Amino acid sequence: MIGESAKTQETSNFRNTVGSLKRLIGRTLEDSDIEIEKKFLSAELCKVGNTVGVSVDYLGEKTEFSATQLYAMYLGKLRDTAAAETKAAVNDVVIAVPVWYTEAQRRAVIDAADIAGLNPLRLINDTTATALGYGITKTDLPAVEEKPRYIAFVDIGHSDYSVSIVAFNKGQLVVKATAFDRHFGGRDLDYALVQHFADEFKTKYKIDVRSNPKALFRLSAAVEKLKKILSANAVAPLSVESIMNDVDASSALKREEFEALIAPVLERTLAPLEEALKLAGIEKEDIDAVELIGGTTRVPALKSRISDYFGRPLSFTCNQEEAIARGATLACAMLSPVFKVRDFTTTDTQLFPIKFVWDKAEGDEETELVAFAQGNAIPSTKVLSFSRNGPFELEARYAEPAGLPGSINPWIGKFTVKNITPKEGGKQLVKVKAKLDLSGVLTFGEATLVEDAPEEPEAEVPMETEPAPAAAEGEIAAEPAAPAKKAKKTIKTALPTVAGGSALDGSLVSDYREKEASMAASDKLVLDTEDRKNALEEYVYDIRDKLEGQWKKYVNGADADALRAKASESEDWLYTEEGEDATKSAYVERLDGLKQLGEPINLRFREHEERPKATAALREVITGFQEKAQSGDDKYSHIEEAKLQEVIEACANAEAWLGNKLYSQQEKALDVKPVITSAEIRKKAEEVSNVCIPIMTKPKPKAPKVEVPPPAAEEAKAEDAPMEEAKAEELD
Ligand SMILES: Nc1ncnc2c1ncn2[C@@H]1O[C@H](COP(=O)(O)OP(=O)(O)O)[C@@H](O)[C@H]1O
Ligand SMILES: [Mg+2]
Repeated sequence: MIGESAKTQETSNFRNTVGSLKRLIGRTLEDSDIEIEKKFLSAELCKVGNTVGVSVDYLGEKTEFSATQLYAMYLGKLRDTAAAETKAAVNDVVIAVPVWYTEAQRRAVIDAADIAGLNPLRLINDTTATALGYGITKTDLPAVEEKPRYIAFVDIGHSDYSVSIVAFNKGQLVVKATAFDRHFGGRDLDYALVQHFADEFKTKYKIDVRSNPKALFRLSAAVEKLKKILSANAVAPLSVESIMNDVDASSALKREEFEALIAPVLERTLAPLEEALKLAGIEKEDIDAVELIGGTTRVPALKSRISDYFGRPLSFTCNQEEAIARGATLACAMLSPVFKVRDFTTTDTQLFPIKFVWDKAEGDEETELVAFAQGNAIPSTKVLSFSRNGPFELEARYAEPAGLPGSINPWIGKFTVKNITPKEGGKQLVKVKAKLDLSGVLTFGEATLVEDAPEEPEAEVPMETEPAPAAAEGEIAAEPAAPAKKAKKTIKTALPTVAGGSALDGSLVSDYREKEASMAASDKLVLDTEDRKNALEEYVYDIRDKLEGQWKKYVNGADADALRAKASESEDWLYTEEGEDATKSAYVERLDGLKQLGEPINLRFREHEERPKATAALREVITGFQEKAQSGDDKYSHIEEAKLQEVIEACANAEAWLGNKLYSQQEKALDVKPVITSAEIRKKAEEVSNVCIPIMTKPKPKAPKVEVPPPAAEEAKAEDAPMEEAKAEELD
């Protein structure tokens, strides 16, 4: 379970409750950020492969799951919820991720989607999703060639804070800059409050809340409530009944005391805003609106600091809870072939510069190049040129590891270009494409060997021996225009390549996918078993009630006693250890056994209610046709007598059949099998209709037309005539 229901269960099962999935995925156990996460996690972390995982009790056994697997379970739950809601299979998805996700985390989310059997069309950064939802409905955006409208989107949620400066024009948005503080959110405020009250209770009640996980958990829930009250009130009460050692803890806090407690966090409010504006290269005054989302932006001290900084009132026009999901949904609809949505281009910005590194070859001046600098547009493709006479390797790395969020390995991927053979008279030109795709994930594209076409031997041009510096803008990063180039014809040959990166190995993904499917199947079995157990319980109670009520007349004393005894036996069994925790088939078997006795009684009861209704319906059908066939009405004068007779006979037969059956039914006691069922009576009504309807609805032949040839001069009028005739026939 997830969300509210998981939160409710957590207090009795926190060793097996895992949160913060978005903060665990794509990291190693040794990551400095994981050390911080431990403050907020109650489950036991472990190492799974080379990533972080969690060790929990699964079906009574210690089991380790990687964060990627857990994320996949979470997506699977969302998938099932969405599928149940929309009554359609869910395949294509767009997943929103924190702006500060690196390649490893993005790849891990894509792997998780794959494990959950989903097809991620793209990932989208949280604030970009919000911006998309915001912009797509605006009809008054400046034209593309005009000065854009700049909006600052500030999102402070449960654990992190991000801000994007976004430029809007008609049909497009460009994220100019993004900044973040990934340890700034509601939970940090809660943490400060917990520390405060833990200290207070130590002196006030002589209890050590920190030593008792359950007490700590309940205090955390209480301070969150207090925090929310303080967003709207000057003072808030706190009370936790029997927090530990039978102590009922209570206290109160004033808003200014709260603000003093969280001062170290509040001090960091402006840094991301300053950073984003600096990166975007625009002034505060250029911002047209500051849009806030995320639960923690409801804290007055934060609101006033942000508002003071921009020197303007804040806007809250986005849906605080749904803005990101809505934007991601729109992005998904745009990419999916099934939906038609107004196009709105999103261009994002690269946060962490990526460089390519290679072994020095003769003639190389450099052995690395920053191809995607900070602020580089996403998506974007770069072409790198190399001069080589043999296979070579290229590595992608983050250029500034110190700036990465936590201890993320700066290594991104490796690319090997093969099948380059030494050539007489020098090296050959090889071009490699690298792409930052819509998800902000790096992929190597094709590698091509570029050779001079043989028919122009005179075009001797010095080879480019260097990958050209990445162009600041645009797509192509290579080839400073060589003077003779225009005259040169080239042949391009694709080269075989091998790429490796941080995505999970394909076989591991399919292994995880299988495990996930089998866990989902056993979850389903658990649910089904529970469902059949409930059904058995319900039926037992039902039998007892009904034997005294509705069913009483329809069962003889001996049968009723037998059924009652059987029901009691099952009831007793349900309370035994065996019956408490039996297999699905054991419940089904007992339920079927009871139904074998109970359902015939139920049928007699239901038939007794249904039979008069079905009888009335059949009688209505019979009399209807009889009346028509015997009416002598002109409407039916065209129907042959023999046919009318057929109708009358069918009706008479049905009437006789019904009379006979009802007569023998009357002779029967209520507690024996009925001789006639309502279903049979309904079937008979259908049979009668099948015989009579075709006969009685036979169309009447048209009255012979009196042809009045229209005068030649009045053709237009003549055309009206058949229409009038048709109308008249319809009225018939
Ligand atoms: N009225 C409020 N005052 C202060 N904090 C609030 C209020 N409402 C919600 N929060 C806090 O907002 C956080 C949840 O914000 P949300 O944007 O939903 O988180 P996320 O998107 O990071 O999961 C929680 O820490 C919650 O305590
Ligand atoms: Mg949020």
